[in-house]
Amino acid sequence: MNLKPYLQAVEAYLEKYTYGTNPNELYEPIGYMMSLGGKRLRPILVLLGYEVFSENWQKAIPASVAVEVFHNFTLMHDDIMDKAPLRRNHATVHTKWNENIAILSGDVMLVKAYEILLQGVEDRFLRAAMQKFSRCATWVCEGQQWDMNFETQNEVSIPEYLEMIRLKTAVLLGFALELGAMLAGANETEQEKLRLIGENMGVGFQLKDDLLDVYGNPEKFGKQVGGDIIANKKTYLLIEALQTAQDDTKTELLKWLSVKTFSPQEKVKAVTKVYNLLGIKEKTENLIDSFFRKAFDSLAEMQADESAKEKLASFMTWLMEREN
Ligand code: IPE
Ligand code: IPE
Ligand code: MG
Ligand code: MG
Ligand code: MG
Repeated sequence: MNLKPYLQAVEAYLEKYTYGTNPNELYEPIGYMMSLGGKRLRPILVLLGYEVFSENWQKAIPASVAVEVFHNFTLMHDDIMDKAPLRRNHATVHTKWNENIAILSGDVMLVKAYEILLQGVEDRFLRAAMQKFSRCATWVCEGQQWDMNFETQNEVSIPEYLEMIRLKTAVLLGFALELGAMLAGANETEQEKLRLIGENMGVGFQLKDDLLDVYGNPEKFGKQVGGDIIANKKTYLLIEALQTAQDDTKTELLKWLSVKTFSPQEKVKAVTKVYNLLGIKEKTENLIDSFFRKAFDSLAEMQADESAKEKLASFMTWLMEREN
C-alpha cells in the first residue's frame, strides 16, 4: 500500500504551520519534536477513516494534523513521566532542554491541537468533533495515571492492564478513525464502528510497543530498549511472567522488582532472561494477533467501499508487523 500521498500531505501542512516564535525557548522544542517525524499513524488513520465513507480525503488534512500535534504533546509529557532519554532516535525534550520547558512546550501543543481542529473542521461538525476530542484527551490522561499508579502497585491483573492501555493509547487511534468518518459524513453508528476498530487495533498496537520495549532492535525502535523493565512498568509481559513464574524464577523476578539500587543493564538482562524462559514473547505475539484479528473482522463486516476498507486493512497489517 502506498502511504506517500497521505504522508506528504500531512508533512506539507505541518511544514507550513507555525506554532509561534517568541519566546524561542517555548517554541523551539515543539519544532524539534515535530521534525523528528515518527510514523504519523494517527493522521493517516483520520484520512483512511475519511476515505471509507467519502473521496477527497484532502479535506480532512487539518483535522488529521490536530490529532498528530496532540499525540506529540502526550509524548513530550510521557517522556518526563517515564524518565525516557530517547525518542525517535534523538534526545527527549526534557533531556535536551529541561523538564519545565518540556511541560510548557507540551502545554502549548495541546492548545495548538485544539486551535488546528477549530480552524480545520467545518462548522456543522465542530461541536461533535470538539466533544469527542475532549472525551478522548481525558481518557488518555486517565490511562497515563493508571500507568504510573501501576508502577508501584504489585498486583495488577491482565484486565486492569488492558483497560489502562485502552485508555492511554487505544482511544486515540479510535478517535482518529472516528473523526475521519465523522468529517466524511458517516452517521453515528458507522463512526462508532470505526472507533471500536481503532480501539482494538490500538490495544494490539500498545501490546506491540511493550513487546518492542524488550525485544526491539534499538536502532530501529528509536527508544531506549528496556525502559519498561527498568521502571517496573506493569506491561503484559511482566504481568504474565509474574503469573506463570514459579520457584526460583519467581524469586528472581520479585527480587528485581524490589531492588532499589541496581545496574539498569543487569536488570534488563536478568528480567529478559526470565521472559525468555517463560515463553513470554510468543504469548504476547498471540495476544497482539487476537486484538488485530478483532479489528480485521469488524472491518470486514462493515458495509462500505471495498477498496477503502482494503487500504485500511493493509495499513493495519503494516502496523501489526512494525519494528519501530
Ligand atoms: C508512541 O506512539 C506512543 C505509544 C502509544 C506507544 P508511536 O509509536 O505512534 O510514536 P511515533 O509517533 O511513531 O514516534
Ligand atoms: C505512552 O505509552 C502512551 C502515551 C504517550 C499516551 P508508552 O510510555 O509506552 O509510550 P512510549 O514507549 O514512551 O512511546
Ligand atoms: Mg508512558
Ligand atoms: Mg513512555
Ligand atoms: Mg512504550
